[in-house]
Amino acid sequence: MFSTVFIMECRRLLWCFSFLVIGASSSAIQMLFNTEDLKNIEFGHEYPRHGLLLLHWFAGHVFISETEDIQLDFNPERRDYGFRYYKPPQNVQNMALPQLDASLDRVYYSVGSLGSEDIRTQLPPYVTQEFYNSNDNPRNDVDRIVVRVHKSNPTIADKVYVTESVKGGAGRFDLNKTYEISSKLLKQVQILQKPIDVLQALASGMFGQLDSNATLSDDPRLKLSKEELLNHLKHNEKRLKTIFEQPGVRWLLSLAGYDIDGRYEIHKQIWLCSTDESDRPGEPSSDPKTMCEGQNPVKIEVKSTSDGYAKLIWSGIPKNILQQEASIVLFSSDTASVLETFEILSGRESGSTGTFVALSNGLHPRLITYSFGTGHGFIGLHYSVIWRGMQFDAANRVIPTEISGYNASLQLYTVQGYACARLYIKKSFTDWKDVFQNSWVGFYTSEKDAVKNYQYYQWVTKFEEADDEDETKEYLIYQYQSSMSIGPGVQARFLFSRGTPGYFSRCDVSFCWP
Ligand SMILES: *[C@@H]1O[C@H](CO)[C@@H](O)[C@H](O)[C@H]1NC(C)=O
Ligand SMILES: *[C@@H]1O[C@H](CO)[C@@H](O)[C@H](O)[C@H]1NC(C)=O
Ligand SMILES: *[C@@H]1O[C@H](CO)[C@@H](O)[C@H](O)[C@H]1NC(C)=O
Repeated sequence: MFSTVFIMECRRLLWCFSFLVIGASSSAIQMLFNTEDLKNIEFGHEYPRHGLLLLHWFAGHVFISETEDIQLDFNPERRDYGFRYYKPPQNVQNMALPQLDASLDRVYYSVGSLGSEDIRTQLPPYVTQEFYNSNDNPRNDVDRIVVRVHKSNPTIADKVYVTESVKGGAGRFDLNKTYEISSKLLKQVQILQKPIDVLQALASGMFGQLDSNATLSDDPRLKLSKEELLNHLKHNEKRLKTIFEQPGVRWLLSLAGYDIDGRYEIHKQIWLCSTDESDRPGEPSSDPKTMCEGQNPVKIEVKSTSDGYAKLIWSGIPKNILQQEASIVLFSSDTASVLETFEILSGRESGSTGTFVALSNGLHPRLITYSFGTGHGFIGLHYSVIWRGMQFDAANRVIPTEISGYNASLQLYTVQGYACARLYIKKSFTDWKDVFQNSWVGFYTSEKDAVKNYQYYQWVTKFEEADDEDETKEYLIYQYQSSMSIGPGVQARFLFSRGTPGYFSRCDVSFCWP
């Protein structure tokens, strides 16, 4: 009797044991279904990590079909927004993402590696601001999003992962910190980008209860209790408002359990706010003494003058900073220490100014203040960097436009203030020089110019191949620099043969310089 029970127990244990082993060896990646699930993970949850910001950005660039396919509005294979081919390393234990069988027609692409200038300049300011302003903190570049797409149609993803790169791991991701994002969660993050009238919803008693409308119940905000909702409005919103401009970002950080108080402490230090401000009652001020009382984040940007020079634009600079001889200084990159030019703000909370610095990739604006004081053993004028803006992107963060019917795309960008065009040719499109034999790219000052009124042109076959050592890329890049200045409204058009255009760009797409 005793022995039978013992054997049965033993069998059961063995069964359990083997089950556990199977579970571990197939390294099942946990799936996250809703914003509540995000609360239990570390991904991007504290300064200076950018993961949740990247997730918000990514959700804004996908369309989820009825069949739960994830359609991307960009092409990761073409390296749009800094996506890069990702191959899981072989013979590594605890591999985060499974190797993909060659017969499967699937490949991985990852995004978010801000340490690379080519990548960080292509993502929007709210995703990269923590990176620029965290002084080489090693945690400012660990978060990644990986998509698994159809090799034959890279704009369709069937899996989305959030993960962390392993320090010194040569592209390895941490298995323990890799999660799959369900399309339902992606949809929720999308819904947060839509405004919601919380007060009205609260009054109508919609909060805190499941309603039968599918679209409504997808909105995680409607599942909050009244206390949680009030906490978001009174506490979280107040702290995040001058850090992240978009309400959808603030909602996501709030619902995902981001360390908002920790972030706000850093905000106060950066902007020299007084310490008791967070508890002070009252509405945000339109004429704030300090950043913490303001309504919007500070912006400092580089745009184009009408003739290819850098234009500095700023807004939202609080009084306490302006009082300290605030200036915007411009550097050729975020690592450069030689000043290109500067503008003394003289009390102007917002404004813009042209410069004589030719526009080029990577230009970096910074907000500084001067003060008299002692330091490094002498008395004199000292400057401190208050805020670092984002670097200028030569293509103005506009992805290439597909030339319909061909595996080729065109992109307008600038080098030293001149209008340039880049052709992306898919490697498999080997006879493109024959197909595009008589094709040319024309540069126009405006979308209204007639085809024959180009300023400059070049035959497509005479574009020069850009050197790029990376073997993993699927597109070859050919480029041409015109002698025309870049500026708002400038357009590049791809024309199939001289005088008989077969294809017109639309000005709202990439050809037109914003
Ligand atoms: C992942 O988790 C396992 C089990 O909890 C642990 O043994 C392993 O060291 C962890 N790996 C890393 C990279 O932290
Ligand atoms: C649910 O949807 C119906 C019709 O689409 C609408 O009339 C109704 O007001 C919605 N319910 C709620 C709680 O909003
Ligand atoms: C683009 O390339 C893919 C494979 O490389 C091919 O299947 C497809 O037909 C091509 N599309 C066009 C329009 O040539």
